[in-house]
Amino acid sequence: MRSLLVTGIGELVTNDPALEAGDASPLGLVADAALVVADDRVGWVGRATDAPAADRILDLGGRAVLPGFVDSHTHLVFAGDRSAEFVARMAGATYDGGGLTTTVGATRDASDEQLRALLVRRFAELRAQGTTTVEVKSGYGLDVDQEVRALRLAREVTDETTFLGAHVVPAGTDRGAYLALVVGAMLAACAPYARWVDVFCEPATAHAFDAEESRAVLVAGRDAGLGLRVHGNQLAAGPGVRLAVELGAASVDHCTHLTAADVDALAGAETVATLLPGVEFSTRSPYPDARRLLDAGATLALATDCNPGTCASSSMPFAVALAVRETGMTPAEAVWAATAGGARALRRSDVGAVRVGAPADLAVLDAPSYLHLAYRPGVPLASTLDVTGTDESTFG
Ligand code: NIG
Ligand code: FE
Repeated sequence: MRSLLVTGIGELVTNDPALEAGDASPLGLVADAALVVADDRVGWVGRATDAPAADRILDLGGRAVLPGFVDSHTHLVFAGDRSAEFVARMAGATYDGGGLTTTVGATRDASDEQLRALLVRRFAELRAQGTTTVEVKSGYGLDVDQEVRALRLAREVTDETTFLGAHVVPAGTDRGAYLALVVGAMLAACAPYARWVDVFCEPATAHAFDAEESRAVLVAGRDAGLGLRVHGNQLAAGPGVRLAVELGAASVDHCTHLTAADVDALAGAETVATLLPGVEFSTRSPYPDARRLLDAGATLALATDCNPGTCASSSMPFAVALAVRETGMTPAEAVWAATAGGARALRRSDVGAVRVGAPADLAVLDAPSYLHLAYRPGVPLASTLDVTGTDESTFG
C-alpha cells in the first residue's frame, strides 16, 4: 500500500508518554507535527521538519489531530423515540428507568432491516464526530431471540459487543424466572456474539438488579468467557462500584453517586470509572465528581451512553465539554479519558493513542488545539481523519 504523510498538524495529541513534551498533561503533545500512515497503521510520528518522504501528502493547515475517540459505552441497537420523556424531565420529572420498556416494545416491533438501518446510521453519526472505536450493548430485546438479534446486528459494526440481558425485568415477567433465563439460556445463546456482559445494578429498585442479582449475572457471564462491565451508582449510591471492583470488571459506568468507600475502592483499581455526563445533562441529575476520583487515583474514561432514554447524544466532544464544565476535569484529563481512558475501559492497548504500529484511527479538529473541544462546545469541530483517500490533497 502507498504511504501517506499527514503534515501541517498544529498540535498532535499522542497519549504516548514516551513523547511527553514537557507540559504537565498526560497527552504526549507534539507541536508542528506530522505522521506517516502505511497499511492503515501509523508508521512514523514526529516533528514535521523531520518527516520522511511518502507517496502522498495531506496538509492539515495547522489543525489539531488526536487519537480517535473511544466510546466505551453505547446502546445503539434500538428503535423508537423518547423525546417526550426528556421534555417531561426538563419540566421536573425524575428518571427512574421506567421508560426503558417503551424502547423494548419499539425495538421488538422493528424488522431486522429497520433495526440495522437505524444502527448503521447512528454508527456513522458517531464516526462523523471523530469516534473510531465503539462499544455497543444489547438490552432492549429482553428475550432470547431478541437479545441474540441485537448482538448479531451490533457485531456487524463492532467487535466490542456487550450482552445486557440484565438491563431491566421485562414488564409482566416474574423477576426470579427472568434472572434464571438471563444467566441460563439467554447467556448461552448470546455469549458467542458478545465480548462483554453488563448489568444495571442499583440498590433494590423495580427497574434494575440488586447486589445479589448483579453478582449472579456477572459470575455467570465470566464463567461463559465474557469480560465484565457494570452500570453502577447511577440512580443512587449502591453496590455497583464495589461489586465491579471486587470481581475485577473492566469498567463501572455512571459513578454518579459515590460514597467514600466507593472512591477508595476505585483508587488505583484495575476497574476504570467511566463517566457519562451526557446522562446527567439529559436527566437533570447531579454530575459525578471527577476531581474527587482523579485526586484519589482512579482511572477515568468518558463515554456517551448514547441511548434513547438517558442520553440521546452520540457526541464525544459534547461529553468532553460537559466533563470539563461540570465534573472538574481539566481539558487534558477529559481528552485523555475520552481516548486512552476509553481504551483502558475496553482493555484495548491498540487504540486510544497515536503510536507507531497502532491502527491509524485518528480524529482531526477544525481548530488548532484539543482545548477547543471544551472551549467551543456545540461547534462541529471533530471528524474522523480519512487516511484512505487516493488524491494528494490539502484538507479543508
Ligand atoms: O445507561 N441505566 C440503564 N441504562 C441506560 C438507560 C436506558 C434507558 O432508559 O433506555 C443508561 O442510562
Ligand atoms: Fe448505559
